[in-house]
Amino acid sequence: MSCLPCCGSREEEEEETKGGSGGGGKGGGDLKKEASGDASSRRVSRIGSDKSKSRGGSDSNKEGSVRKDGSNTHIAAQTFTFRELAAATKNFREDCLLGEGGFGRVYKGHLENGQVVAVKQLDRNGLQGNREFLVEVLMLSLLHHPNLVNLIGYCADGDQRLLVYEFMPLGSLEGHLHDVPPDKEPLDWNTRMKIAAGAAKGLEYLHDKANPPVIYRDFKSSNILLGEGYHPKLSDFGLAKLGPVGDKTHVSTRVMGTYGYCAPEYAMTGQLTVKSDVYSFGVVFLELITGRKAIDNTRPTGEQNLVAWTEESLQKWPIHYFKAIFP
Ligand SMILES: Nc1ncnc2c1ncn2[C@@H]1O[C@H](COP(=O)(O)OP(=O)(O)OP(=O)(O)O)[C@@H](O)[C@H]1O
Ligand SMILES: [Mg+2]
Repeated sequence: MSCLPCCGSREEEEEETKGGSGGGGKGGGDLKKEASGDASSRRVSRIGSDKSKSRGGSDSNKEGSVRKDGSNTHIAAQTFTFRELAAATKNFREDCLLGEGGFGRVYKGHLENGQVVAVKQLDRNGLQGNREFLVEVLMLSLLHHPNLVNLIGYCADGDQRLLVYEFMPLGSLEGHLHDVPPDKEPLDWNTRMKIAAGAAKGLEYLHDKANPPVIYRDFKSSNILLGEGYHPKLSDFGLAKLGPVGDKTHVSTRVMGTYGYCAPEYAMTGQLTVKSDVYSFGVVFLELITGRKAIDNTRPTGEQNLVAWTEESLQKWPIHYFKAIFP
């Protein structure tokens, strides 16, 4: 999947964050389409890793070092040493590898207490970095909902950055929708709708129940992870932003997200609203009902962008479109 690279500096992103809501923003964003289809290039490039702020300390803290008590909420994320996570993943052995994204590799692991986890290791040469790591830890320490993935803890030993999540046994929605091996049954209609409804509840929680609201900014099929019975949970909060408060309608920020899922008005103006996530939800919904990828460079021109193809098809040959979906 192609992505929207934003090669801005960490400082630029911070400046815009300080600018807060309102205003025109720098807008536009440098939307470039990357040719590569490999997983590590699918997401936007991120602010580089800031090693000067790396947290040392190798003491495991099972009581949690990110902790906040307030409004009846007790929040704790465990800290792990690098050694503990190396042991959990058999030294990051190849056969424990679950997948790889823009942040780095993801391994299946077993903690000392027997808990099965997914360990995501920041690729220190990669495009995404420390800032995304911190946002992920903070957001997932504060946000809790049955349709959001649980962050069990993290490791910030020296310049290592690892995230430890609950293990989602059925992998990502993307893995069930696209490039499915012939011996695997495609998802049935009810399961597709159940996944859409669960993912929508996760978004509703972020937008309408979290205070201040949270804009996810990375809603896509590879970030919807599936548990037993295809129970969906949203993952990857490194791009999430606090939404507008008061009478503000948007926050101004650099354009980040994944090509094919990013709302055009946000891509053009840099003005982010909760509706930007709703657009991305619509794209995933189209993926669910058509089985097509948001961007598919292997298809003929005119069919590569799912939204554009849908718009055109519905105008020109609606009956054929629905026949293609419901053969
Ligand atoms: N908690 C988890 N449990 C089980 N598998 C997981 C978990 N988290 C990630 N994975 C697997 O690891 C793969 C890579 O995930 P990751 O979030 O790093 O990248 P991505 O979402 O595919 O791509 P991108 O970086 O573009 O968002 C996923 O496709 C998924 O199959
Ligand atoms: Mg992901």
